[in-house]
Amino acid sequence: MAIIEAQSIHRRFGEGDLVAHILKGINIKIEPGEFVAIMGKSGAGKSTLMYQLSVLDTPSEGSVIIDDVDVASLEEHERTSFRLRTLGYIFQNYALVPDLSARENVMLPLLMKNLSWQEAKQVAGTAIDSVGLQGKYENLPAELSGGEQQRVAIARAIAGKPKIIFADEPTANLDSVSGKQVIDLLTELHRSHQHTIVMVTHEREYATNCTRIVDMEDGRIVSDVPN
Ligand SMILES: Nc1ncnc2c1ncn2[C@@H]1O[C@H](COP(=O)(O)OP(=O)(O)OP(=O)(O)O)[C@@H](O)[C@H]1O
Ligand SMILES: [Mg+2]
Repeated sequence: MAIIEAQSIHRRFGEGDLVAHILKGINIKIEPGEFVAIMGKSGAGKSTLMYQLSVLDTPSEGSVIIDDVDVASLEEHERTSFRLRTLGYIFQNYALVPDLSARENVMLPLLMKNLSWQEAKQVAGTAIDSVGLQGKYENLPAELSGGEQQRVAIARAIAGKPKIIFADEPTANLDSVSGKQVIDLLTELHRSHQHTIVMVTHEREYATNCTRIVDMEDGRIVSDVPN
């Protein structure tokens, strides 16, 4: 039974003569435990597709069913709680809150899920340990390297035990050593914890450990093969 099923999704931006038709009928089914790479040139629509699949945006047409829930049927507050319960996000620019320490950044979504302060602190500490950042709990993002910031973002994404992790070019701002560490961490999450992961990447070598490669061109999937 698929954990994500998108049917005939289109995404248009703008109106009238200025409408930009960006996703042109996407069908994709992702099974639990897959590690999917979405690849393609800049402007192909990879991020736009990921936003539709991860409930950060709403398609102009078509349906997205995640973990048996038709996400279009959710009210805004239900979408928020669905995201908190089911999905984890990793972005290219880390998206950490600059005034909060590493541990507080990881605690934030846990507190939003109504964990107590003590519980959130403990779970966040364990997640930070699991990405190899013991001893950096109190550092602000500015006191961490790019690779370390991205590992905090991974800790934040996994701390709430989401069913699916979405990563949009998680290595784009990193040097090759830190980039590889991030990919190794995602690979480890997939291998040992059977996480379902959907990752956008430009680089073929970063997709080596993915189980499936989806190629996009001009708003369409042009190839979708096991890896
Ligand atoms: N909110 C928006 N309004 C108008 N056009 C948009 C919007 N978001 C994206 N687009 C357009 O959709 C196209 C696809 O963008 P998208 O960000 O999905 O590409 P991408 O494949 O992720 O590229 P990159 O590899 O550079 O990140 C681009 O031409 C972009 O300009
Ligand atoms: Mg993109």
